[in-house]
Amino acid sequence: MRITFKLIVSLIVVVVFVALVSAWFNVRQERIKLYDEVRAQSALLAESFKESIRHNLETKNRAGLQKLADKFQNQKKLEGVAVYDSAGSLISGSSSLPPELLARVPEINALIAGGDGSDRPYALGSKKIYLYPLALTFNENEKARIVLFTDISYIDYDLFKIWKRTLIRLLAQMILISLVTLFVIRWNLVDPVIQLADWMKKLRVGEADGHMPQLKGDIFAPLAREATTLASNLRAARRAAQNEARLRQNGESLWTPERLKEHIKSKMDGRPLFVVSNREPYMHIKEGKDIRTIVPAGGLVTALDPIMKAAGGTWVAHGSGEADFEVTDADNRIKVPPEEPAYNLRRVPLTKEEEDGYYYGFSNEGIWPLCHIAHVRPTFRKEDWQYYYDVNKKFAETVLEEIADVKEPCVLIQDYHFTLLPSMIKAVRPDARVAVFWHIPWPNPETFGICPWQKELVLGLLGADLIGFHTQFFCNNFLDTVDRTMESRINWEHFSVQKEGHITMVKPFPISVDFQQPDKEVKALGRKPDPKTVIKELGLRAEYIGVGVDRIDYTKGILERVKAVERFLEKHPEYQGKFTLMQLGAPSRTHIPQYHRFLAELHAEVDRINWRFKAKDWKAIVFLEKHHDHKTITKFYKIADTCLVTSLHDGMNLVAKEFVAARDDNSGVLILSRFAGASREMKDALIVNPYDIEQMADAIYYSLTMPKEEITERMTRMRQDLHENNIYKWAANLTGELMKLRMDEFKLPVA
Ligand code: G6P
Repeated sequence: MRITFKLIVSLIVVVVFVALVSAWFNVRQERIKLYDEVRAQSALLAESFKESIRHNLETKNRAGLQKLADKFQNQKKLEGVAVYDSAGSLISGSSSLPPELLARVPEINALIAGGDGSDRPYALGSKKIYLYPLALTFNENEKARIVLFTDISYIDYDLFKIWKRTLIRLLAQMILISLVTLFVIRWNLVDPVIQLADWMKKLRVGEADGHMPQLKGDIFAPLAREATTLASNLRAARRAAQNEARLRQNGESLWTPERLKEHIKSKMDGRPLFVVSNREPYMHIKEGKDIRTIVPAGGLVTALDPIMKAAGGTWVAHGSGEADFEVTDADNRIKVPPEEPAYNLRRVPLTKEEEDGYYYGFSNEGIWPLCHIAHVRPTFRKEDWQYYYDVNKKFAETVLEEIADVKEPCVLIQDYHFTLLPSMIKAVRPDARVAVFWHIPWPNPETFGICPWQKELVLGLLGADLIGFHTQFFCNNFLDTVDRTMESRINWEHFSVQKEGHITMVKPFPISVDFQQPDKEVKALGRKPDPKTVIKELGLRAEYIGVGVDRIDYTKGILERVKAVERFLEKHPEYQGKFTLMQLGAPSRTHIPQYHRFLAELHAEVDRINWRFKAKDWKAIVFLEKHHDHKTITKFYKIADTCLVTSLHDGMNLVAKEFVAARDDNSGVLILSRFAGASREMKDALIVNPYDIEQMADAIYYSLTMPKEEITERMTRMRQDLHENNIYKWAANLTGELMKLRMDEFKLPVA
């Protein structure tokens, strides 16, 4: 209140000062103007009867003079006229003029002595009289003086009116200013501060969630953003503390970000962690003139970002966003996540040719279909291989630069884009502990054998100290492949390969998700998502919702999924107009013809099915084709009755785990392909063969008619398992295993 008062008083002082000064100037100008007018009128009048007076003086006609003086009395403001001789004695004056006015008073004397131009006001009782003198010569050298008496009391009154008007205006302005100031301050400052303080208090006592209510005005928007971040930190810290306390109480050993941080600190002796992947965790794109940050779709980023947020360190990746290098420093580094920097992202620039050959070509037209049994032929081109080699070299140089000052650095290489990187790094830095995690399936040796560069790929990988796969089955396939490809010593008991004196351990590490993440996303949404509202926002209605979330990729079994929906609606027409599949699809690798064709086929199939079951305000399939952020995806997980993960082949598939993590109400059914790595762990899902459309249609039906208790039991078990086997445990196992290894002297294996 004090600040409001001070502000109002200061504003009023300034306004009053300005208004008074300007009124004073106005009044002054007006006075001069009015006096000028009186003077001009008097001069005109005096001149008009000057000749008649002269004539009467010359003819000594006193009666004529008196008549003349009387003629000009009481005319408008003119009180009268008088004529004096050169000695100042009255010769004749209007009879209406009081004698004391005509007598030789000092003012008249001064006038007579002063001559023309010595006009002046003269106070007479309550009146103010203006005296105007005019010199007159008669009979050649005799002098006389005409004096005009004008009542100018009205001038003071006019000037008083100006002052009065100014003061009234001033008063109105002051009231207006005070009201506007009060309103502006109240709306923009007082109310938001009260709101903020109120929310903070509730937060402190645990009555509010981390989401700040919409503040009035926008002055506090930056503060609100920071406060929301602080609040979510506070909540996370509280949750962690509660968790830790609970774990201590139960003697459990759940992995949390805090525990992973401590684990990495102690295991790695304070050394930073280095992660390498093709896909970056944060991408900067242009939206008009603005630059926006997006989190690319895909399991790799979903899994590794929480680890890096907890552990810190450096993530080296391809800078593929169009605005990526506009925000990095001179060394292509940037701290991420943007809202709460926790680790370094080192971006590697690639030319268009490099991206074409290494990423689209060798990695995604070659290795990807080679490792996924989805009946898409891999294409291997010599030029692509050359680019693949060169880009691996480029990344090796970047990583070597990053680890230059770190003794025995720990490097975690991700996926099929970098099979050559482990050997390239180890050749220069044998002290580095290098692990590769293979996020996709590893096929059997016959399948892998069709790759013309299979030996180089396997050798490159064997440069690593540790190779991780999602499942034991993939580990077996890998060791079989090594066995068939080259001379080496394979230890089937310990699952290791010895080549040229270097030992590589091969182990399964089933990857996972941050179990708490959906909870954070929902808090960020502000309120619990409601199925009806979400569907209504799309202009539709539906009673039952199935959800699918994928990168648009031919390995994900999306075509089979929509066909299963069609079959389900055919078999159970009572669900027509009631069940909708919400398919969220992030466009992916769209420059590859196979992906192009796949997308077109998917659109055609969705259109065909929707047309077949066409009904007002309802669709069998809603295909939301765009990049969705985690918040939106979580919203769809939350409102779904069933989630369909129907990959034809998949390393793990984290959508299955994200869905389960999001269902804190222990409801919802997961339909899961038996060809996704996740099916090895998530036994409480409805496991299906995505090629069996009939079976999938039945699974959809069962998911919607399953008794509630069974739904709860299945979901509760899956959640318990996921809670324990979360991404932090995965990271702790992988890094723990890597740090445990005895480091041999490294010699680069030769083919
Ligand atoms: C899979 C791969 C990842 C890849 C992701 C997204 O999960 O294992 O390495 O990052 O798909 O694909 P993209 O080509 O867009 O990086």
